[in-house]
Amino acid sequence: MEKIEEIKKLLEEEKDTICDLKQLNELKVKYLGKKGLITELNSQIKEVPKEERKEFGSRVNEVRCDFLSFYEEKRKELEDALLNEKLEKETIDISLPAKKVKRGSLHPMTRITEEFEDLFVSMGYTVFSGPEIETDENCFQKLNIPLGHPARDSQDTFYLKDEFERFLLRTQTSTAQVRAMEENLDKGPLRIVCPGKVYRRDDDATHSHQFMQIEGLVIDEGVSMADLKGTLELFCKKILGEKTSVRFRPSFFPFTEPSVEVDVNCFKCQGKGCSLCKDTGWIEVLGAGMVHPNVLEMCGYDSKKYQGFAFGTGIDRFAMFKYNIPDIRTIYGNDIRFIKQFDRKDSE
Ligand code: DAH
Repeated sequence: MEKIEEIKKLLEEEKDTICDLKQLNELKVKYLGKKGLITELNSQIKEVPKEERKEFGSRVNEVRCDFLSFYEEKRKELEDALLNEKLEKETIDISLPAKKVKRGSLHPMTRITEEFEDLFVSMGYTVFSGPEIETDENCFQKLNIPLGHPARDSQDTFYLKDEFERFLLRTQTSTAQVRAMEENLDKGPLRIVCPGKVYRRDDDATHSHQFMQIEGLVIDEGVSMADLKGTLELFCKKILGEKTSVRFRPSFFPFTEPSVEVDVNCFKCQGKGCSLCKDTGWIEVLGAGMVHPNVLEMCGYDSKKYQGFAFGTGIDRFAMFKYNIPDIRTIYGNDIRFIKQFDRKDSE
């Protein structure tokens, strides 16, 4: 019994010296480890004379339980202290102004393309997309431009090397007309716009070897030139402003008959004449016309039953006018200073 009291006293003294988890665990090993002082007392129980054994045993157990509850309590206390110390060190000064997050902005071409799409979708059109690598048939032949036709001259392009030079980079989004009509198996009414990249053998301040067009096609019974005029007038006014004047001139495209070109009054000189409009007061923005019966037939439509109108325009051209961009090549130059001018905060 004396031995127990001795150990208990020693333990009480040592308890007060514990200041970290390491020391606490060492204490546990010293008293409750395999050869720990309390463990040893435990193994001595059987050697104690029978009369004292019960008391001895319960006293050892008491010391053991005391130690264990001390251990648990101390461990929690030390762990909490450690955590608090850590939290204190890691406190964030919320009064500090936050670092500015750099936000990207939409490229002007994306922005204007979306504007076009929204407008046409609001008029019941579907946005259609086709591949940039096309066949000669879709890009020319089915648009009434057979091999050797002079209209090909103004649309020289990049041909992909294959046995028949059958594949090329499309020169116009008009290819979408062919695809949309062919894919529409019931050969009924259609109303689509197709924005996308096109390619030509061009390169100067107003012509890039790669640029963006948007094509529109409406097919139904009884579609007339009046529908075409109304639609395109509305389109020009919505994109360039309600005050825009629109002029239709007769023109020629192999895939439309009759064909027109659409001009808007020059917004730089208000029609007085300047370098932008080459002193005419007008700027050409669209090509359009009534879909040629040959094209309808080649794409599987009954040209006696259905009529249609189509139009095509350069999205870059509209962006140049709308945002006052003098050189088309800056649109594709990837110069961050150019794109930054269209930062969201300007318009939103
Ligand atoms: N594809 C023509 C071009 O690139 C533009 C065009 C003209 C499209 C008349 C049309 C159209 O749909 O009817 O010059």
